[in-house]
Amino acid sequence: MGRIVLLGANGQLGNDLAQVGRDHNLDLACLTHADIEIADPASVEQVLSSLEPEAILNTVACHGANQHTPAEQEAFFRVNGLGAWHLARFCRRHGCLLVHFSTDYVFGKERTRSRPYTEDDPPCPVNIYGASKVAGEQLVRTFCPKHYVIRIASAYGSAGCRAKGKSNFVKMVLGKALKGETLKVVNDQVMSPTWTRVAAEKTYELIDSGATFGLYHMAGRGDCTWYEFAREIVRIADLPARIEPTATPAEGPNEVFVRPRWTALTNCMLRQAGLSDLPHWRECLEQYIDTHERTDETKNAAPWSPIPS
Ligand SMILES: NC(=O)c1ccc[n+]([C@@H]2O[C@H](COP(=O)([O-])OP(=O)(O)OC[C@H]3O[C@@H](n4cnc5c(N)ncnc54)[C@H](OP(=O)(O)O)[C@@H]3O)[C@@H](O)[C@H]2O)c1
Repeated sequence: MGRIVLLGANGQLGNDLAQVGRDHNLDLACLTHADIEIADPASVEQVLSSLEPEAILNTVACHGANQHTPAEQEAFFRVNGLGAWHLARFCRRHGCLLVHFSTDYVFGKERTRSRPYTEDDPPCPVNIYGASKVAGEQLVRTFCPKHYVIRIASAYGSAGCRAKGKSNFVKMVLGKALKGETLKVVNDQVMSPTWTRVAAEKTYELIDSGATFGLYHMAGRGDCTWYEFAREIVRIADLPARIEPTATPAEGPNEVFVRPRWTALTNCMLRQAGLSDLPHWRECLEQYIDTHERTDETKNAAPWSPIPS
C-alpha cells in the first residue's frame, strides 16, 4: 500500500489509526481540521491532490448533542453527507480507496429487537446525526467504487472524542466514580461498545486482506445497555460507585435529538471475508482500562463492591 491520508487524525478513532499505522511503519499523512475542511470541495481537491494518496481514511464527523438550531442541523449534512461526497468524488477521479467510518446510529427505529443488526438490514435512523451518516454512506457507496464503509458503535479510546470535549462514556463514568458521585444511567438503550484501538487494528487488517469492497460492521462483540456497561467499567476499575438504572425520558413529538433504543451490531461481513471477529466488548474494556485508565487514583481507591440498586 502506498501513501494513506488519515482525516481527523487528532480525533478519538483518528488517534488510534495514527498510532497503529505508525506501529506498522505505514506511509501515513495525518491531517486535522486545521489542515483540511472536508465540507469545502476546493479544500479537498487542493490538499489531497498534493499528497497523492492511494487510500484515504475518513474519521471526520459532525456529532454531539447540538442538533436543535437549523444551522446545527445543516452542519450535520454539510460534513457527514456532502463532505463524504466530496471525498468520494475525489477518490473516484484519482482511483484511490476511500475508507469511510459510520455509526450504529444509522439504526434505532425499532425499540426492542431479538437479534443484532447486520449489514443487510436497512438503515432506520431516529435523529439528524444518524440520518446524515446514512446520507454519507449512500454517497460514498454510489460515487466511489473502491470503498469500505465501516460502522463502529458507542466508541471509546484513549484520546477521547473531540466532539465530547475529549471525553467518552468510560472516562465520564470513571471520573464520576472517583468523585464518589451517584450515577444514573439508562438501562433501556442497547448497543455494542467498541474500543477504537481494536477497530483501528481491524481496519488495517481489512484493507490488507483485499476483501470485497462494501459495507462492514466493526463493533465489539456482544451487546449491553449503558447501565450494564457502566457497572462493568467500575467493576473492572475496582472503584466503589453507586449506579442507578434509569429509563430514557420520553421525547415530545417535536424533539429532534431522539436517542435510539436498540442499535447493537454484528460483524457478519468481516466473518464472511474470513477475518476474525472483534473480541467481546468486556474483554476489550478490561484491556482498555488496564492499558489507559489505571491511574494512582484508581489504584488507591477502595475496592469495588456491588451496591444494590
Ligand atoms: N464517538 C462515538 O461514540 C462514535 C460512535 C459510532 C461511530 N462513530 C464514528 O466514528 C468516527 C470517528 O469518531 P470520533 O469519536 O473519533 O470523533 P472525534 O473525536 O470527534 O473526531 C472527529 C474529527 O473530525 C474533525 N473534523 C470535524 N469536522 C471537520 C471538518 N468539517 N473537516 C475536517 N475535519 C473535521 C475533528 O476536528 P476538530 O475537533 O478540530 O473540529 C476531529 O478531529 C466518525 O465517523 C463517527 O461518526 C463515533
